[in-house]
Amino acid sequence: MENLFRLVDQDQDFFQPKWTLVNGPIIVGAGPSGLAAAACLKEQGVPFVVVERADCIASLWQKRTYDRLKLHLPKQFCQLPKLPFPEDYPDYPTKRQFIEYLESYAKHFDINPKFNECVQSARYDETSGFWRVKTVVSSGSNKTEFEYVCRWLIVATGENAESVMPDIEGLSEFGGEIIHACDYKSGEKFKGQKVLVVGCGNSGMEVSLDLCNHNASPSMVVRSSVHVLPRELFGKSTFELAILMMKWLPLWLVDKLMLILAWLVLGNTEKYGLKRPTTGPLELKNTKGKTPVLDIGALEKIRSGDINVVPGIKRFSHGQVELVNGEKLEIDSVVLATGYRSNVPSWLQEDEFFAKNGYPKAQFPHGWKGKAGLYAAGFTRRGLSGSSSDAMRIALDIGTVWKEENKQLKKRTIARHRRCISLSQF
Ligand SMILES: Cc1cc2nc3c(=O)[nH]c(=O)nc-3n(C[C@H](O)[C@H](O)[C@H](O)COP(=O)(O)OP(=O)(O)OC[C@H]3O[C@@H](n4cnc5c(N)ncnc54)[C@H](O)[C@@H]3O)c2cc1C
Ligand SMILES: NC(=O)c1ccc[n+]([C@@H]2O[C@H](COP(=O)([O-])OP(=O)(O)OC[C@H]3O[C@@H](n4cnc5c(N)ncnc54)[C@H](OP(=O)(O)O)[C@@H]3O)[C@@H](O)[C@H]2O)c1
Repeated sequence: MENLFRLVDQDQDFFQPKWTLVNGPIIVGAGPSGLAAAACLKEQGVPFVVVERADCIASLWQKRTYDRLKLHLPKQFCQLPKLPFPEDYPDYPTKRQFIEYLESYAKHFDINPKFNECVQSARYDETSGFWRVKTVVSSGSNKTEFEYVCRWLIVATGENAESVMPDIEGLSEFGGEIIHACDYKSGEKFKGQKVLVVGCGNSGMEVSLDLCNHNASPSMVVRSSVHVLPRELFGKSTFELAILMMKWLPLWLVDKLMLILAWLVLGNTEKYGLKRPTTGPLELKNTKGKTPVLDIGALEKIRSGDINVVPGIKRFSHGQVELVNGEKLEIDSVVLATGYRSNVPSWLQEDEFFAKNGYPKAQFPHGWKGKAGLYAAGFTRRGLSGSSSDAMRIALDIGTVWKEENKQLKKRTIARHRRCISLSQF
């Protein structure tokens, strides 16, 4: 008997169930999209479980972004449903302010994700009509497996779940520090260094600018082409202006107008090595998901020569990089601002709704609902405003079924109750 107690004591999970049936949907990911979906479901009266691999909400913002980051779209396009940003927030909230807003959002709607729980696989069981979602729960060095069984699965793991690490010849022989932009916090520790920034998206541009501001010397690799637009045009957000124009004009025309306006404000960016793609910025975003750069000062540093624009990389060697034009640069460190990707194909066993690239096959506004209770929030290539729109549609869809079923259940319960009463009279 004593031995049995000792055995139970050692294995505290002995009596813990290894699976549970969830009343309502499972939301995978506690980023802005998962939180928005949860808040909207709460309003519909639908219970849910949120599962998050990190130990906090909005882990991308809390752990994988640099200090100087600000939202690059005006706040009205970034707030989540049902709770606006505080009035005293600036037009472009800082990363810290955005995180504080998200923390208060989760508190306001009483959203309590299950942290340190990473979804390993999810598959629909045709026989039972339920999703089976397997997770690994981490607690210190301890790892345990768990399974959720549910009718609805909301995928909210984000477009930027994993960082893209390029495979470039000789990178392992470089010898200096190599980090991805998701691990870059500030240029402070690169002071006085020659840094190669690989990539010229919003991350590459902003990291290069930050390095300049900390007295480092960045060289930024532009291997193909990029649309740079000013963040604001004539005192109005460029994004807002584009949205406004799209209400009346076709996309191709808005693209043309944006490029003319950008040329008037920024001049010809090609002469600084920033060749423009042949497709317009909005069309490129819609078709390829490639985001235009909204300039917040990097272009000025490129013009002044503080940021050195260089072409693609041929190979690395010890302390050096050779470029495709044959030029060789001595460098101390490398920041890979080479982007991110979705991780959905690594865990979701489904290929009808989601494509191989981890995005829904159907484009916005049709990519939020699949079959058999499968939903996607935050894969619209439209940033936070896309997350909000998905969350509202999903919650309304599930909420309608939930309410109807509850009504039927109540009717059946009352009928059964009445039958019991009338029987008991005999
Ligand atoms: C540097 C940077 C700046 C940006 N700035 C803006 C901006 O200004 N405006 C804008 O609209 N958009 C911006 N974006 C886009 C950004 O993707 C969205 O703002 C927002 O974070 C998307 O929210 P999400 O919840 O869909 O994804 P995420 O914020 O990535 O959240 C997904 C969550 O899912 C969790 N997760 C992933 N896989 C699993 C798993 N298998 N099991 C459990 N949990 C998992 C992750 O840990 C994460 O917490 C920026 C992106 C980056 C990288
Ligand atoms: N302030 C903000 O709000 C802010 C800041 C940063 C990021 N973001 C957002 O975060 C998302 C990700 O942005 P991101 O800039 O990290 O990624 P990104 O837009 O995908 O850009 C990746 C860059 O890396 C380049 N690249 C990839 N592999 C390469 C290689 N092997 N050699 C040379 N170049 C290579 C790409 O070049 P090609 O084009 O040739 O492929 C591209 O220039 C975007 O939605 C962006 O808007 C927002």
